[in-house]
Amino acid sequence: MHPVDVGEKRLMIVNVNGQFYATDRICTHEEADLSTGFLTGTFVTCPLHLSRFDVVSGEVQNAPASVPLKTYGLKIEGTSVYVQL
Ligand code: FES
Repeated sequence: MHPVDVGEKRLMIVNVNGQFYATDRICTHEEADLSTGFLTGTFVTCPLHLSRFDVVSGEVQNAPASVPLKTYGLKIEGTSVYVQL
């Protein structure tokens, strides 16, 4: 999970076995940085209260968070990563 700032947005690029995904990186529960959490398959676990989100859909898998994570379209050209904001 790689943190990226784009203007005011705090995103992370997630590499899941060579498939890349872009999501917000601030947990929807409080202000934890998800890029410092744990990735298991497509699920990121928040380091603060252990909510779990699917980085593909943004859906919450485990409370206490209840609001999905925002996800973004992404494409890779050569060594550049483009995120559709
Ligand atoms: S800040 Fe992420 S679960 Fe609470």
